[in-house]
Amino acid sequence: MPINILFDILAPIYDRVIGDRDPAEMVDVLELSNEVSLLDVGGGTGRVSSDLRKHVSNLYLVDLSLTMLGEAKKKGIQDLSSTSSENLPFQSNSIDRIMVMDALHHFPNQEKVIEELFRVVKPGGIILIEEPDINRLLVKLIAIAEKLALMGSHIHSPTEINKMMRKFSSNINIIPNERISAWIIGRK
Ligand SMILES: C[S@@+](CC[C@H](N)C(=O)[O-])C[C@H]1O[C@@H](n2cnc3c(N)ncnc32)[C@H](O)[C@@H]1O
Repeated sequence: MPINILFDILAPIYDRVIGDRDPAEMVDVLELSNEVSLLDVGGGTGRVSSDLRKHVSNLYLVDLSLTMLGEAKKKGIQDLSSTSSENLPFQSNSIDRIMVMDALHHFPNQEKVIEELFRVVKPGGIILIEEPDINRLLVKLIAIAEKLALMGSHIHSPTEINKMMRKFSSNINIIPNERISAWIIGRK
């Protein structure tokens, strides 16, 4: 099943199934302020970024699934775009902060997406990628389940993502967290 159709079906229940995130944590790690713009790539329903709107000057969200975007719109996110993350509709060096939450492994060409993130973010800007940490047993089981469900996803390890990002910046750090995911944070 094409991935956007799967998320079209899941959209109305997605937030309830996955759960909330603490916006304060995101404000800290992304160094948000009302002078910076934020782009949420593969942002889905805006589950995470909708609460960050009041902390930034502009919030943009791109996602392939129109139904996920419909849920984001209900939360009041205005700047929505139904686009593949491999071709972001933004000028080079135009966005201060970019977040990719639990979405990278769904993108068919992850290296191309990372190249796009670094193209679009401003010099000195921050890119945060949160991905399930494939070193954990539960994530290995999730990866197998997604393969069996023919979702076409591929979970790279934080070290592999770090390596992909290092082609564009030497300032990349991996921060494990208490959930089953890791943050890979790059500064251009
Ligand atoms: C697991 S959801 C995560 C959504 C959101 N980031 C969150 O944490 O709630 C993955 C999202 O990636 C989107 N997606 C999958 N492939 C995509 C692509 N090539 N370009 C843009 N979005 C894509 C899906 O539609 C879905 O909304």
